[in-house]
Amino acid sequence: QRSLLGLKDLSKDEIVSLLDRAAHWEAQPVKVNPVLQGKFVANMFFENSTRTRFSFEVAEKRLGTEVLNFSAAVSSVQKGESIYDTVRTLESMGIDAGVIRLKPIGVLADLATRIKVPLINAGDGNNEHPTQALLDIYTMRKQFGELKGLTVAIIGDILHSRVARSNLWALQKLGVNVRFCAPPNMVATELDAAYISIEEALKADVIMMLRVQLERHENGMIKSAEEYREQYGLTVERAKRIAPHAIIMHPAPINRNVEIDDELVEHPQSRIFPQMENGVPVRMAVIERALG
Ligand code: CP
Repeated sequence: QRSLLGLKDLSKDEIVSLLDRAAHWEAQPVKVNPVLQGKFVANMFFENSTRTRFSFEVAEKRLGTEVLNFSAAVSSVQKGESIYDTVRTLESMGIDAGVIRLKPIGVLADLATRIKVPLINAGDGNNEHPTQALLDIYTMRKQFGELKGLTVAIIGDILHSRVARSNLWALQKLGVNVRFCAPPNMVATELDAAYISIEEALKADVIMMLRVQLERHENGMIKSAEEYREQYGLTVERAKRIAPHAIIMHPAPINRNVEIDDELVEHPQSRIFPQMENGVPVRMAVIERALG
């Protein structure tokens, strides 16, 4: 039984093994393979989610687990109950694993030392979003086969992005060149990646756009959506300059016509909806690893 708190501390072999197992689940001819029947998994979302929450639920059901969905908005968190007491409550009821999304940074690492069942990070603050990066890398691997030597440009709000961090730490282990492109006030100086211009970023094999995370911004981090789009957005005009073999990615949700133009979301070179599709087998592999 193993937690997945992040990719920074996961070995290359463990990452590859999860990707291989995801491919195994994707190849199954039937939707439900109840290999984990009798196990209980709680999805505990203390922050909003559509993709992560529902793809975890689909993954859990496809493996035959019993699923409990906890939503902070309609729970005793509203009466002031702490995150620890909430998770401990579900643990005491007999869950076998917990999927958890949290806003504050650092809480998950502490929880993992106090909770006995495996915890899977579904996004914690701007720290890590390991299953998002795994599904991103799985999508790249399906496209390119070998990842070593590829260049991935991650463009946008790096400062607030747990997706950028998890991708950086995992992709570097796999021999991928990661480059960042960000407005000066959205740079994360502590991360070990070179910053390049938007024009340079368009030459990459993977153009990964990030959502401008307005909910995490101090006032006035962007002057206007129009100006952001003009300086850092993947516009239709810029997309004409990407390589024919390159792919466009975005973890979503998308601010259409801010970080990416509406017309590009389902462009032939976009893998945005395939990313969401790939989230299910990847999360099946992660749940299986936790409960195995
Ligand atoms: N990509 C992602 O984490 O989306 P949700 O916030 O909808 O889960």
